Amino acid sequence: MRKTVLDPQPGSYNIQNEWIEDEAFEWEDVHRHFSWYETGKVNMAYECVDRHVEDGKGDKIALTYFSDEERLTYTFSELQQEINQWANVLKRHGVKKGDFVFVFLPKHPQGYIAMFAAIKVGAIVGPLFEAFMEEAVKDRINDCEGQYLITNQTFMERVHQKEIPSLRYIFTTDEAKADNEIPIVKEAEQEEVTVDVEWVDLDDGLNIHYTSGSTGKPKGIIHAHRNMIQQYQTGRWVLDLKDDDVYWCTAHPGWVTGTVYGVFAPLLNGVTTVIHGGRFSAEAWYDVLETAQVSVWYSAPTAFRMLKAKGEDLQNRYDLSALRHILSVGEPLNPEVIYWGYESLGLRIHDTWWMTETGAQLIANLPTRPIKPGSMGRPIPGIEVAVLDEDGEKLPPYETGHLAIKHSWPSIMKEVWKNPEKYQSYFPYGEEWYIAGDLAYLDEDGYVFFQGRSDDMINSSGERIGPFEVESKLIEHPAVQEAGVIGKPDQVRGEIVKAFITLGDGYSFNDELQEEIRLFVKGKLAAHAAPREIEVLDELPKTQISGKVLRRELKKRESAAITS
Ligand code: WTA
Repeated sequence: MRKTVLDPQPGSYNIQNEWIEDEAFEWEDVHRHFSWYETGKVNMAYECVDRHVEDGKGDKIALTYFSDEERLTYTFSELQQEINQWANVLKRHGVKKGDFVFVFLPKHPQGYIAMFAAIKVGAIVGPLFEAFMEEAVKDRINDCEGQYLITNQTFMERVHQKEIPSLRYIFTTDEAKADNEIPIVKEAEQEEVTVDVEWVDLDDGLNIHYTSGSTGKPKGIIHAHRNMIQQYQTGRWVLDLKDDDVYWCTAHPGWVTGTVYGVFAPLLNGVTTVIHGGRFSAEAWYDVLETAQVSVWYSAPTAFRMLKAKGEDLQNRYDLSALRHILSVGEPLNPEVIYWGYESLGLRIHDTWWMTETGAQLIANLPTRPIKPGSMGRPIPGIEVAVLDEDGEKLPPYETGHLAIKHSWPSIMKEVWKNPEKYQSYFPYGEEWYIAGDLAYLDEDGYVFFQGRSDDMINSSGERIGPFEVESKLIEHPAVQEAGVIGKPDQVRGEIVKAFITLGDGYSFNDELQEEIRLFVKGKLAAHAAPREIEVLDELPKTQISGKVLRRELKKRESAAITS
């Protein structure tokens, strides 16, 4: 019989229970861990890198990079110098406080250096996912009229400058090919290794991530430097980081997890951080875990399910004995996967819950608490959670309703770019409760059980996909007259994108056309947004009054097809 509660594994974690469960905890208690507590001078880049050099950790490895072709390491001193040189280049070309600097680069230390250089000069950094295609890139930069981009010539093929008129300079990590291109690596070599940090206020803009909901185009969520308070602290409590850890977060910084828990949280804690260049493969990932001697590993259920599917024989070929703490985020973590980790790796997988908008983890299975497989855990100290009914009233245990977080916490978004109504929409029952858009219930111990979304947002492999964006793209294809897009349940990816379409006159559906439509979306937006399945209907279900496609009906149709 499998246990229904997995107890903490004494000795495997760093943080002491008594301290974590201290009810008197206030977020202000964390402030004293930052240099600005004494100096009043705030900058995320400084806290992540310079502070550690000043504390005598300059020779410690900050970044260690693995790919098929290359291995690189940067000490905190080396990282600091390179960031300063890049920051000097940015400054010299006019980048200043409050400007948007987009970073479109692969998973590589240069991506980290680019982000910190932008932050150090006070700019708001916008990391773009490496697989974004031309329209995804264009829409994001255009929305906030970004003037600066850091990229390389390969990625530039997906940057259609003529359609992004606000772009002033493009900094390239390889060569420059046009007048407005600046070879940042080459120019940085000529720069001083020190820079005047742009000191900011805790509430000044730090980063922007575009994120999808069920309607409209992705919205720009802006976060502030104050995020570091919660990101540092969750790095300690939830990631359980200690000085000699080697930490690997598998997400690209274009997703919020990759920025917050791939870049900021580990470096705020001064911990050696692994970057893996290249795509997922079970062999490559096990190899990174073994070679880098990863001790703390943050990934996602789809990846764990893929590793599980590869079997134990493969896993047994690697020495994973350095691993001591595993975490998951982004999509429901099935109990099956937790038991897989427990039985094959001898470790619990700790689920964590948060959103782009929340800026840091809010609900988690802490290493010091029992895990109930199927639950995302409990709110971390300093966070209060409730489940509300349609009128905004609290529901008792085991009743499903809207997952709500007591407003406010240090890392909540600063604003939705140019969209105050959208910001307000997270507070439908007034200022007291932030409504996530997730459905959940609590048990009698306050453990949170995720039950789905209250809107049509799709979650495929932990990536958030807005059906509207995919539908809009589909109908740009000449064969597609109308489109309705839903998430279809999937064993490995949680959900896959499924499109229902009606065809224009004169078109008939076949495998070739299906593939053409799929590639059309993939080529414009990104691979993860392209429908894996397309079904043709004579007519789409619609609301009588407004004629809007009823995605709910499509979902019902799909589940009827699965169960029949
Ligand atoms: C979902 C990712 C189940 C949820 C950090 C949320 C989860 C959305 C979990 C945010 C989890 C996140 N279990 N679902 N542990 N964590 N989600 O903005 O629906 O990309 O609202 O942030 O992912 O996705 P986002």
